[in-house]
Amino acid sequence: MNKKVLLIYYSQTGQLTEIVNQFSIPFFEKGIDMEIKRIMLSEDYKFPWTGKRFFDVMPESVLGIPVSLEKIIVNEPVYDLIVFAYQPWFLSPSIPANSILINRDFIRLLKGSNVVTLIGSRNMWICAQEEVKKQLKEAQSNLIGNIVLKDTHNNLTSAVSILHWMLNGKKEKLWGIFPKPGVSEADIKNSRNFGEIIKKRLKENNYLNLQNELVENRAVEISSNLMFIEPRAKKIFNIWAKIIIKKKNRTFWLQLFKYYLIFALFVVSPVVILINKFCVQPFLIREIREKKKKYLGIK
Ligand SMILES: Cc1cc2nc3c(=O)[nH]c(=O)nc-3n(C[C@H](O)[C@H](O)[C@H](O)COP(=O)(O)O)c2cc1C
Repeated sequence: MNKKVLLIYYSQTGQLTEIVNQFSIPFFEKGIDMEIKRIMLSEDYKFPWTGKRFFDVMPESVLGIPVSLEKIIVNEPVYDLIVFAYQPWFLSPSIPANSILINRDFIRLLKGSNVVTLIGSRNMWICAQEEVKKQLKEAQSNLIGNIVLKDTHNNLTSAVSILHWMLNGKKEKLWGIFPKPGVSEADIKNSRNFGEIIKKRLKENNYLNLQNELVENRAVEISSNLMFIEPRAKKIFNIWAKIIIKKKNRTFWLQLFKYYLIFALFVVSPVVILINKFCVQPFLIREIREKKKKYLGIK
């Protein structure tokens, strides 16, 4: 019998669509029924963003508040493999990703299924994936692999260049001097190789040590500095989100959050990174190694 694969994703800019297209190429062959579904929102987010709309999705992203989705219609009641492709928004699964993860029909599909997560991010995806791991576990699915594509430029550079892309809609070099934002074309193309690895395992019906194989092939990489910053930043985002969600003058509070974020990113985070490098990392080598293992892994 043919292997049944469902790849479900959302993409606003089209970047994750390109990743999904490359990743799925190997699955279009005899013996595999590949079904690709885009998550459809009842009301989609407009692209490009305005600054106001961009920050306005922070509280709902962080608190996991869903939006309404169109009904998901799929061909099969059960799949041999589900690939869940998503992006982080504000260190959390994006609102479309959050919304599908609590969708009853999707939870029914997830139950008992093998799942691979495929992430298209800037570079801060760890906390989002920890959340997704939790939700997949709650849905009684079996996470067997995780692949992360990201912008590989310096954290501050990519923050500026991605924001430029988000606000003007063009994936281009800002002022001709910043690097092209987002996941590089070479990395997007290379996701086909990760698809190949997964397909081989699917056909063999053997997922033993799959994540190790993916890590060896650099499907996931962890930066020690970002690993230090991200969970701390997420805690602070949580506090902001809980405050803002209750406020009547939301616009004012979102402005405050925006200035806080700029300050945290460009002033606080470089200092924190220095402290981490010289005062924390040298003394916590084992703990850091353990944490890295956890984030690279699927447990
Ligand atoms: C509102 C918003 C917040 C984002 N926050 C993050 C983030 O916290 N971490 C990260 O790595 N990327 C972040 N990104 C980038 C996205 O994860 C994604 O890579 C980018 O938006 C590409 O769009 P697509 O996945 O819809 O094709 C954010 C993007 C948006 C629009």
